[in-house]
Amino acid sequence: MKDMHSPPPPAGPNHVAIIMDGNGRWAQQRGRPRLYGHHAGARRVREIVEACPDLGVKYLTVFAFSTENWKRTQAEVSGLMALFKRYITREAQTLIRNGICVRFIGDRMKLDETLVRLMDELELMTADNDVVNLTIALNYGGRDEVARATKRLAREVAAGRIDPETVDAETLARFLDTYVLPDPDLVIRTSGEARISNFLLWQSAYSEYEFVDTLWPDFTRDEFAKVVGRFARRERRFGAVPG
Ligand code: FPP
Repeated sequence: MKDMHSPPPPAGPNHVAIIMDGNGRWAQQRGRPRLYGHHAGARRVREIVEACPDLGVKYLTVFAFSTENWKRTQAEVSGLMALFKRYITREAQTLIRNGICVRFIGDRMKLDETLVRLMDELELMTADNDVVNLTIALNYGGRDEVARATKRLAREVAAGRIDPETVDAETLARFLDTYVLPDPDLVIRTSGEARISNFLLWQSAYSEYEFVDTLWPDFTRDEFAKVVGRFARRERRFGAVPG
């Protein structure tokens, strides 16, 4: 007989964030240029987005380009920017058809006009979708995001619209790029590196981390499902003692 007091099955992560690392090494292993790895990485993004509904993942956030990535060679940077434009143009119809709501986080000021226009259009075209919320971090850095949020908050204080005495973590969170998103439950980084690299610093205060050795272009839907399954079996306490 079923035990009436048995706990409900563990919930999977509602929001998964991914640091997609290892494209360069993947290409290098094949004797190909780094951009070849990024293109293979973009195909994985599609596969992982499409796996989300079955796994109960409602929010997926991927780190596509960091505020530090400008230090790469000009050829790699412009190749990545062209890849983002191509991804948006080519994937738009599929994303709409699959009910994906796309948002971008990061500082758009440094991005080229055409790319920003494509980003704005994709956000608008997919705004009413709600099967999966895909957030693409592009020219994103956690510290930069907190600094930009603080600047906006300071303007509100200076204008007399916010009383500084009332400012708390919740107030600042409203000024972050992620203000409409729940915090990530699980952050995955591929390629064996165990670093956060300035990704969602504020939002991942209580996230679980999973570092997997697989290079991003080899990260399959099956491996994603396994990592998500491991999360569901863990107990999360948010700083409290187990009940
Ligand atoms: C890190 O691997 C990856 C990036 C800086 C770029 C991520 C971009 C993609 C996966 C492509 C497309 C994304 C979207 C959303 C269309 P790395 O180059 O640092 O690899 P390495 O550590 O092996 O050199």
